[in-house]
Amino acid sequence: MTPAMTIKALSVLLLLSLTYKWVASSPLYASSRWIVDENGYRVKLACVNWVSHVDTMVVEGLDRQPLDAITASISAMGFNCVRLTWALYMFTDPSLGSITVRQSVRKLNLTDAESGIETYNPDLLDLSVIAVYKVVVSSLGSSNVKVILDNHISSPGWCCSNSDGNGFFGDKDFKPDVWIKGLTTVASTFNGTSQVVGMSLRNELRGPKQNQNDWYKYMQMGAEAVHKANPDVLVILSGLSFDTNLDFLSRNPVSLSFKEKIVFEMHWYGFSDGQAWANGNANQVCGSVMSSVFSRGGFLLTPNMSYTAPLFISEFGIDQRGTNANDNRYINCFLAFAAENDLDWAHWALQGSYYIRSGKVALDETYGLLAGDWSQPRNESFLARLSVLQQPFQGPGLSEHSPYQMIYHPATGMCLQRDTLLSLDLILGPCTETDAWTYTEDKNIMLKGTFFCIEAGGLGEQARMGIFCDDDNTKWDMISDSKLHLSATVGNGSTVCLDGSSSPSVVTNECKCLSKDSSCEPGDQWFKIITTTREMPLISNVLAQKQKEDMEEAFPREGTAVE
Ligand SMILES: *[C@@H]1O[C@H](CO)[C@@H](O)[C@H](O)[C@H]1NC(C)=O
Ligand SMILES: *[C@@H]1O[C@H](CO)[C@@H](O)[C@H](O)[C@H]1NC(C)=O
Ligand SMILES: *[C@@H]1O[C@H](CO)[C@@H](O)[C@H](O)[C@H]1NC(C)=O
Ligand SMILES: *[C@@H]1O[C@H](CO)[C@@H](O)[C@H](O)[C@H]1NC(C)=O
Repeated sequence: MTPAMTIKALSVLLLLSLTYKWVASSPLYASSRWIVDENGYRVKLACVNWVSHVDTMVVEGLDRQPLDAITASISAMGFNCVRLTWALYMFTDPSLGSITVRQSVRKLNLTDAESGIETYNPDLLDLSVIAVYKVVVSSLGSSNVKVILDNHISSPGWCCSNSDGNGFFGDKDFKPDVWIKGLTTVASTFNGTSQVVGMSLRNELRGPKQNQNDWYKYMQMGAEAVHKANPDVLVILSGLSFDTNLDFLSRNPVSLSFKEKIVFEMHWYGFSDGQAWANGNANQVCGSVMSSVFSRGGFLLTPNMSYTAPLFISEFGIDQRGTNANDNRYINCFLAFAAENDLDWAHWALQGSYYIRSGKVALDETYGLLAGDWSQPRNESFLARLSVLQQPFQGPGLSEHSPYQMIYHPATGMCLQRDTLLSLDLILGPCTETDAWTYTEDKNIMLKGTFFCIEAGGLGEQARMGIFCDDDNTKWDMISDSKLHLSATVGNGSTVCLDGSSSPSVVTNECKCLSKDSSCEPGDQWFKIITTTREMPLISNVLAQKQKEDMEEAFPREGTAVE
């Protein structure tokens, strides 16, 4: 790790210890929509995908950094888990599983990869690919990172297309009996390995053969086989159509011999909706895609629906160069949805590069969290935007704190707060230092425990707090199809929206492209009010009372009942 990463690591760990009780790996369970530990406390999966299913069957990056440095960097970046992919045939075809890393890269003429692994991980070069897979799991455990083993494909190689013969039960490379055998082998291989907390049965079911009857038949069979061989792991079932659709569960739940271990997974990328984001109005696309995601799987999270279960968004991500307009619009909407629903998730992906992918040697991964040389994050600002989602907002074990609201700004990954403790001006700052807000039935956004509310100024003016909370300019509506604009009416009757475009200052401006216009970017004006029971930031806890008194003294107001 670079010194910069070490410092980051320390600050992240410090924050973790302040905000969240760290629990050692122990079997996890599904309880209603939550994943919990054996005490019933929530464990939020904040994972990253790390690929080991491509042609070499070797986890990517061993030619760029020492294995232990890579696993330490995962935890330093705030992730508590890895979705580690594997190819079925590595575990069912001894002629594949027994070859060494050196033989595997030589077969593909990857001379640079071989010399890189010789430099950074010489001890691994002459181990079999299966042995290295186990060493990787063990190194993740040593770095306090949980592992979800994901059967990504049968035949080692890049995934996934409708016609690659690996898409659905009965395809050329997807024979149910071979698959059950491989799942059983992997589940029993890692029985008793405490960091292995889950198994994804199969990635992205798809193709011309896909159908619901076979989904129930074989997915239930696979689930039973895994549970029998390793009753400790969460059994994670993916949906149809490249894991974008679980809607059939609302009509017909799975029927299994065990409970409390069943989790569903779903994928959601910008390109899942083609070029809709780039070509449409961002507010309208966000609104329609969110409602579609809800009906295809999000419904599992609602306790009032017929079927409630944890939903793990096991793949999402963007081109981190910031140049893909479709991705840039999508990610703001995704982050708002993920925060509001407090999802468990796995980012795609960790790897900054591949030994070889689809015939391209040393391919750079523009969606990778790590840079091409694996020594540092590819894009620090993107990582910062994700970090607010790494801690749970709610759930069992966090509920002893009375709920309050955070106002999250996905474009920056920051939260709305006062400039200084005694300031009335609002800024965007780190969510770990958020103010606690209360969004009331009267549509006021109150600083919790005070009589201060957010008031809108005129166009381009600094957003501030005031005390005249009956006035129109303190009544905030969530508008547009995305419901991500916070708007109020100002003196002359015009509508303004909170705007983070001059971050850290938060101002009010004309509301941007609420509909129709597909050329403008409303992201600066997207805010999400998130209910949380997180411990209040330390500073607020200590100073809240004193501050309240100071405020009341500075701004006396007769006859006001203070909450
Ligand atoms: C590796 O190189 C040899 C000799 O140049 C060639 O015959 C073989 O086809 C190459 N293999 C691959 C997988 O590119
Ligand atoms: C899994 O391992 C435990 C010991 O850690 C053992 O008691 C149990 O029998 C094993 N289960 C299976 C199905 O092999
Ligand atoms: C379930 O509850 C949520 C909020 O708690 C609500 O938004 C949703 O409409 C409800 N759904 C049904 C089907 O009742
Ligand atoms: C990181 O992402 C931001 C926007 O998403 C972009 O503007 C910036 O150029 C990216 N940085 C690098 C190093 O790619």
